[in-house]
Amino acid sequence: MPAVVVVGAQWGDEGKGKATDQLGAQVDYVVKFNGGNNAGHTVVIGDEKYALHLLPSGILSPGVTPVIGNGVVVDLEVLFSELDHLEARGVDISTLLVSASAHVIPPYNRTLDKVTERFLGKRQIGTTGRGIGPTYADKMNRVGIRIQDLYDEKILREKVEGALDLKNQILLKVYNRRAVTVDETLDALLAFADRLEPMVADCSLVLNRALDEGRTVLFEAGQATMLDVDHGTYPFVTSSSATAAGACTGSGIGPTRIDSVVGVIKAYTTRVGEGPFPTELNDDVGEWLRKTGGEYGTTTGRPRRVGWYDAVIARYASRINGLTDLVVTKLDTLTGLEKVPVCVAYDVDGTRCEEMPADQSSFHHAVPVYEYLPGWWEDISSARTFEELPANARAYVEYLESISGTRISVIGVGPQREAAIVRHAILG
Ligand code: GDP
Ligand code: IMO
Ligand code: MG
Repeated sequence: MPAVVVVGAQWGDEGKGKATDQLGAQVDYVVKFNGGNNAGHTVVIGDEKYALHLLPSGILSPGVTPVIGNGVVVDLEVLFSELDHLEARGVDISTLLVSASAHVIPPYNRTLDKVTERFLGKRQIGTTGRGIGPTYADKMNRVGIRIQDLYDEKILREKVEGALDLKNQILLKVYNRRAVTVDETLDALLAFADRLEPMVADCSLVLNRALDEGRTVLFEAGQATMLDVDHGTYPFVTSSSATAAGACTGSGIGPTRIDSVVGVIKAYTTRVGEGPFPTELNDDVGEWLRKTGGEYGTTTGRPRRVGWYDAVIARYASRINGLTDLVVTKLDTLTGLEKVPVCVAYDVDGTRCEEMPADQSSFHHAVPVYEYLPGWWEDISSARTFEELPANARAYVEYLESISGTRISVIGVGPQREAAIVRHAILG
């Protein structure tokens, strides 16, 4: 099973980092293919906790070659601060490869991300303020700066001058901010160029050759299906392709090379930032779920919005990504509830919808239709086989499986690497 994609099935923070890390011993390459340091993937190994933003979680597994694909937007300052931090903790960072075609996040795009959000006022997206949106917009507008441009100073200067011609008009005239000089931008971009150079590679070629040789490659998504720029709750999304198809465009491998697609999904739902969320809880139970699940953002520290499991979203994620397996995380968080509600369909203006409404307005009106399952009180965090789970927890998982469109292969019962029940091995 040489190529496996791991994606988020909800609005992010499902536990993709942990799922990737758990497969680390069985894979040769872990590729980040979309997003940038808007992501926050937490991995707990023994007593050590790591929060990865720009680097693929595979960097924590000895023997794995971590790859930053062309679909990623790279903040060079963040990249090197994260690398230095990991190195100081004894992690081997020497094998990292960075695609020559990945785009860099220039400092002016961080500024533009933040001032645009302020300008939008109550229409804001609630971005992470890392410059992600403006950098992907530049890419599509064909005024972006790529890693390879750092090694041709004449081209780099021309590109930065071209970008700043327009950016400075916007900064000055729309946002009343100071103009940015070409030289200060070049200095910031070139500060890390020498350190970066040995890592720069044609990652498409490297990955295709690896697959030809029978090596195992894992593609780790940032963000999630409902934050995908095409298939998410637009405009309350990120600006990249966070679904399985993004693994191809974001790394330079063809779709026929992918063998399995794993969707990571929480046993309930969370979301950070603005936008519709049908099963959201704004009451004491929601507060309990947030506290019990430790639902505070890895990247921005913001409290996450919380709600019940939404099977309409699970079915949608199964369809959009062509999922072969689901990893259900944080089942342990639900311990201690009398009844566990599960959203099985929506009521949209009086009509029952089993599938995701095709138009955003209907989704905004969607009222969850719940089924209520009996809860459990036993501590499940040390369960390592399905049979060790209490009958009601088993019934909850089996019910989720029956309505989510994909088999449930792994169940998470705690944040630690080993805290999981494997029902079907994902890699052979
Ligand atoms: P990612 O962005 O998808 O990688 O997810 P995050 O790391 O942002 O958020 C998931 C959080 O849940 C992290 O703090 C993980 O350590 C934690 N986590 C993952 N799986 C489980 C699980 O099965 N049980 C519990 N209690 N925590 C988990
Ligand atoms: P991981 O990989 C949860 C959200 C932001 C905001 C929207 C757009 O850890 O699951 P952006 O800065 O990307 O332009 O913000 O997307 N968002 C995430 N929410 N987890 C993430 O990543 C996210 N990355 C972006 O909160 O609503
Ligand atoms: Mg996260």
